[in-house]
Amino acid sequence: MSTFTFPVETTDILKPLDPDQFRTQAHLVVDFLADYYSNIEKYTVCSQVEPGFLTETMPDSPPFQPQPLESILQDVQEHIIPGITHWQSPAFFAYFQSNGSTTNFLAEMLLTGFNTVGFSWLASPAATELKIVVMEWLLKLLQLPKSFSFSSDGGGVIHGSTCESFICTLVAARQKKLNEIETQNLVVYCSDQTHFSLQKSTQIVGISPDNVRAIPTTKSMNFQLCPDALLMAIEDDVRAGLVPFYLCLTVGTTPTTAVDPIGVLCEVAKKFNMWCHVDATYAGSACICPEFRHFLDGIEGANSFSFNPHKWLLTSLDCCCLWVKDRSEFTKGLATDPELLKNKASESKQVVDYKDWQIALSRRFRTMKLWMVMKSYGVSGLREFIRRHVKMAKYFETLLLRDKRFEVVVPRNFATVCFRIAPLGESSDEEDVNRLTKRLLESVNGTGKVYVTHAVVENIYVIRVAIGATLIEEKHVNMLWDMVQKHANALLAS
Ligand SMILES: Cc1ncc(COP(=O)(O)O)c(C=O)c1O
Repeated sequence: MSTFTFPVETTDILKPLDPDQFRTQAHLVVDFLADYYSNIEKYTVCSQVEPGFLTETMPDSPPFQPQPLESILQDVQEHIIPGITHWQSPAFFAYFQSNGSTTNFLAEMLLTGFNTVGFSWLASPAATELKIVVMEWLLKLLQLPKSFSFSSDGGGVIHGSTCESFICTLVAARQKKLNEIETQNLVVYCSDQTHFSLQKSTQIVGISPDNVRAIPTTKSMNFQLCPDALLMAIEDDVRAGLVPFYLCLTVGTTPTTAVDPIGVLCEVAKKFNMWCHVDATYAGSACICPEFRHFLDGIEGANSFSFNPHKWLLTSLDCCCLWVKDRSEFTKGLATDPELLKNKASESKQVVDYKDWQIALSRRFRTMKLWMVMKSYGVSGLREFIRRHVKMAKYFETLLLRDKRFEVVVPRNFATVCFRIAPLGESSDEEDVNRLTKRLLESVNGTGKVYVTHAVVENIYVIRVAIGATLIEEKHVNMLWDMVQKHANALLAS
C-alpha cells in the first residue's frame, strides 16, 4: 500500500542538524506519520510476515553513498511497515496497549532535539528539576501518601520499564536486609499472577529461582494473593532458616487485572521486616480517577510503588514512574561517586543526581513527555480518556454477559475483559472448552482486522480484550463483537 507521495529529491544530505534541512526533513516525517495514522485501519493489525522477511531481503552491508530521506521513507513504507504490528491501531486489543498521543510525539521531538544526558543535576538542571515537579504532580493526582514525596524522606524517578524498577528496588531491599543480617538465603514472594519480569529481575540481581515463591491464586478468589497463603509460605521458609526480604504485590495483574489487597499484605510484610513493592504497571493510570483510587488503599504500608504512563496515559514507551518511601535507603545500593562527575552542586547535597536512582548512568529527558501530556490534556482530559475506555470495556462485558455462548471468566476491574466459550454445564470437558476458545482467538486474529491475545489462569484459557487504544471508538468494539459472534457460531456449529 503506498499512500505517501514523495516530493522532489533532496541533494544536500550531509548536514546533520543544519536548521533549514532539519525543518524540511522533519516536515516530511510528520507528513509521513500523519498519512500513516490516516490509513492505520487499512493495515493488518498483527503483522503476518514470516521470520527472516527482512534479514533475508535487506542488503548485507550499509550503503556507501548517503541516501536521501525520501528514499529512506520509501523503504520504511515498502519494507518496514509490513513487518510492524500496529499497536496504535484502534483495533489493537492485545496485551496491554501502549497508547501514544500527538503531544507525546511533540515532546519526543523536543527531548530528542535537546538530546541532553541528565545523569546529574548539573548535567541538565531542568531535566532533574522538571522530573521532581512532575513526580510530585503525579503523587498528588494518585493521592499517594506524603511519605513518598520529596518533601518528606521519599521521592520519585522515571525509569524505562517496570523491570528496571524491580531490579532497583530488589537491590535496595537486599542491601537493607544485609545491613541487618548476614545471609545468602534471601527469599522473594509474589503470586503466580505476578508479571514474569519480576522473575527476570531476580535472575539479573542473582537471586536463585529456588528462592522465589510464586504463591498460587485461585479463580474463586479472583486471582488475588491470599494473605494467609503468603503468611504460611513465609513461616515455612523462616522455619527452614531462610530470610524473607521482598514482597511484590500487583494492582492490575497482566492475565486478568486482579488486584492484590495491599493493606493487609503490607501488614504481613511488615511483620517480617520485608520490603514491599506495589506494581501497578497497567492499572496505575486508572487510579488518577477518584472512582478507581480505592484500588491503592493501603499503599502507605508499601516501600515503593510504580506504574507505567506508557501503558495508558497518552505517553509512549518508555516511561515508568517509581516512588520510594526512603530515598537514602533506595539509592545506597545504586550510588557511585566518580571523580569525573564531581561538582559543587552534588557535593552540596542540595540536589538530586538521578544517576543514583537507576541502573544506567545516562538518562533521556523523558519527563518532557509526561509534563507536556499533563499540561496539554489536563487532569480532566486524562480522566476522560481513561473513563472512555472503561465505558467501552463495560459495554463489551455486558454484551458477553447477555450471551449464553460466552462466559466472562473474572469480573472486570478496569478496561480489560477476560472471556471464554461457555462450558456446557458440569459435564463439559474443560480441555475441550480451552481448545474451542483458543480456536476462536486464532480465527478472529486470522482476519487481520483485529488483534486479541490470551492468558491461561488455573488451567482456563481466556481471551483478553484490552480496550485502551488512543484511536478506539465504540464502532471498533462493535466490530470485534460481531467478529467474535460470527466466528464462535461457525466453531460451535462444526
Ligand atoms: C503488571 C505488569 N507488571 C510488569 C510488566 C512489565 O513491564 P515492563 O515491560 O515495563 O518491564 C507488565 C507488562 O505488561 C505488567 O502488565
